[in-house]
Amino acid sequence: MSTITIQNLSKQFEQHHVLQGLDLTIADGSFFTLLGPSGCGKTTLLRCIAGFNAPDSGRILFDQDDITGVPAHQRNIGMVFQDYALFPDKTVYDNVAYGLRARKVAPDEVRARATQALELVGLDGYAGRFAAQLSGGQRQRVALARALVIRPRVLLMDEPLSNLDAKLRLSMRDMIRDLQRQARITTVFVTHDQEEALAMSDQVAVMLAGSIAQMGAPEFLYASPASAYVADFVGSANLLSVDYTGPGTVALGGRTLQVDTAAAEPLANNQLVLRSEALTLVWTEQQAGSNGLPVTLSGRQYLGARTLLRVALPDGRMLQVDAPGLQRHQVGQALWLKVPPSSRVICR
Ligand SMILES: Nc1ncnc2c1ncn2[C@@H]1O[C@H](COP(=O)(O)OP(=O)(O)OP(=O)(O)O)[C@@H](O)[C@H]1O
Ligand SMILES: [Mg+2]
Repeated sequence: MSTITIQNLSKQFEQHHVLQGLDLTIADGSFFTLLGPSGCGKTTLLRCIAGFNAPDSGRILFDQDDITGVPAHQRNIGMVFQDYALFPDKTVYDNVAYGLRARKVAPDEVRARATQALELVGLDGYAGRFAAQLSGGQRQRVALARALVIRPRVLLMDEPLSNLDAKLRLSMRDMIRDLQRQARITTVFVTHDQEEALAMSDQVAVMLAGSIAQMGAPEFLYASPASAYVADFVGSANLLSVDYTGPGTVALGGRTLQVDTAAAEPLANNQLVLRSEALTLVWTEQQAGSNGLPVTLSGRQYLGARTLLRVALPDGRMLQVDAPGLQRHQVGQALWLKVPPSSRVICR
């Protein structure tokens, strides 16, 4: 277990600046996720922490130890790759025991720890199988056992679930999180799946082009995105340009709405963030109360547990509403949208 401190880290490939003066502290024992679109530098950062990439400048510390120049095999990290990277011609047992043998652990202890690690991931019956004879989910669990068995200081995982089908992904989330909690091991998890990030993490760093756009607990990022980029990337949000008309009010579609303008700025490009599940469709202006907007229903998808509704403002801008259960409104109907006064305005 370790606190990971990253100071002013930069890395470029040829002319391309992939990481640009990145600072980050990852708390001891926490589950920390790097979230961002393809190409933003998540894997590059993870490989710097692992020691597979040498940064051009900056430092990486595990607790007080500066490990920037320490080779990967001496950093005591466990790594799980997207493609598992198992030895296909070794048995499951030998894959898991490999790291212990390489560290010259005594044979009795190798046996005890490898067996225990396989039990931990529910693969005790598979020790003698070859890695090539396993399903994707089983391979992923071997990779996890192999990373944990060495009792690493930090666990690094690069999109470990992206090759699994949707159902397996959900159950592996739970398994990884349970194992991480039991071992209390500082974990850096990379994903471009925002739902996975929200579901699993203590802290999430949203990355944009080699730097951190915003960092925080999942519920904080969701409720208080600092920029349109983060609002759009974390959860599904409707973003609408609005005119700031004074503390607590904006103008939209010829109406004045009461919203949270703490982060708004006069004359800036202010955007109202409307979470689709926070919006309510009602029949009349009266039902909408003082924070209503007239809309026309333009589309409707019934999904069983919920209904997705697409509505148009009078100026033609579209919004998505996510309502529970079956909604009986008809496409083409004139309706009213209730805007929660807690909706935030941001200007970045
Ligand atoms: N070894 C390399 N040589 C040259 N360019 C590289 C190298 N590794 C990464 N890059 C470039 O650095 C940028 C960031 O790559 P990185 O793999 O860190 O992105 P990522 O966020 O992990 O994306 P993805 O979600 O697609 O895995 C990309 O533009 C990539 O092409
Ligand atoms: Mg990557």
